[in-house]
Amino acid sequence: MEYKIGNLSLKNRVLLAPMLEPNDVAFRLLCKRAGCGLTYTGMVSPLSKQKLDLDDKPALQLFGNSVRGIKSFMKKYDSKVSLWDFNLGCPSKLSRKLGHGAFMCGDLKTIEKILRAMRANTRKPVTIKIRKSDRSLDIVRMAESYIDAVCVHARTIGQGYSGEVDYDFALKVKKAVGIPVIFSGDVDEMNIEKILEDFDFVMVGRVAIGNPSIFSKSGKKFGFDEYLKLARKYGLFFRQVKYQAMNFTKGVVGGKELRRALVGAKTIEEVEGIMGKNK
Ligand SMILES: Cc1cc2nc3c(=O)[nH]c(=O)nc-3n(C[C@H](O)[C@H](O)[C@H](O)COP(=O)(O)O)c2cc1C
Repeated sequence: MEYKIGNLSLKNRVLLAPMLEPNDVAFRLLCKRAGCGLTYTGMVSPLSKQKLDLDDKPALQLFGNSVRGIKSFMKKYDSKVSLWDFNLGCPSKLSRKLGHGAFMCGDLKTIEKILRAMRANTRKPVTIKIRKSDRSLDIVRMAESYIDAVCVHARTIGQGYSGEVDYDFALKVKKAVGIPVIFSGDVDEMNIEKILEDFDFVMVGRVAIGNPSIFSKSGKKFGFDEYLKLARKYGLFFRQVKYQAMNFTKGVVGGKELRRALVGAKTIEEVEGIMGKNK
């Protein structure tokens, strides 16, 4: 069975949510190996000069309001991504200061300008990710003529990442548009199937951190040792590897002791040694 977002065919409907720190290339590749339908990068500024490894052919999420920056960035990376997403949900203080992410939502004109530019610069699918606000429905109705799907994380800016996800609000978004709707917010093993009765796709965020096996249907485990091989291949920095090691100890028997040992680790080899004891 294949599932479509625009002209992109996906093997299943469970996606890795965009997450800035956790979604390095090694982690995304591991999620893909485990069976994830599509991996997202965290949000990327089109003006940043950071080196991007996109071997998993991810959905690349852009943010900001530089139309010119977006155009040239898309030209540079279009062949390397599966899909382009635009962030309209970031609630951070920096986004507030710069008028980015969720703080752009009062400015439909700028959003439309950006989406028009994104549409004109790729044949790949274009999507947006929004939060719950009193502008959301206006935005998705306007955006529908430019985009191929919309992702809704039905929490307000004020809620950040906690508090109840407004399922009924997400259903309102679904009702308002004819394009696929991706549901985000507290998706886990227990509720995936139920949510997929109402929505076209789901994204798994925090539950996937340190737990790529959530995407595995076979019961096969995808552990830190496999992550580390990929992290080495891509030359990821020690700090990132240690951070991911911490993530992989989540919910593991003896996890607390592992984390305590990891705090003092100074090299990737030390991290490997500590995590190796957990096999
Ligand atoms: C560490 C972290 C980083 C995140 N970074 C992004 C991001 O870069 N772009 C984005 O649209 N959402 C980001 N999110 C939000 C997630 O994509 C997701 O919508 C949210 O966490 C709710 O889903 P969950 O309950 O499954 O985690 C981030 C969330 C977390 C926890």
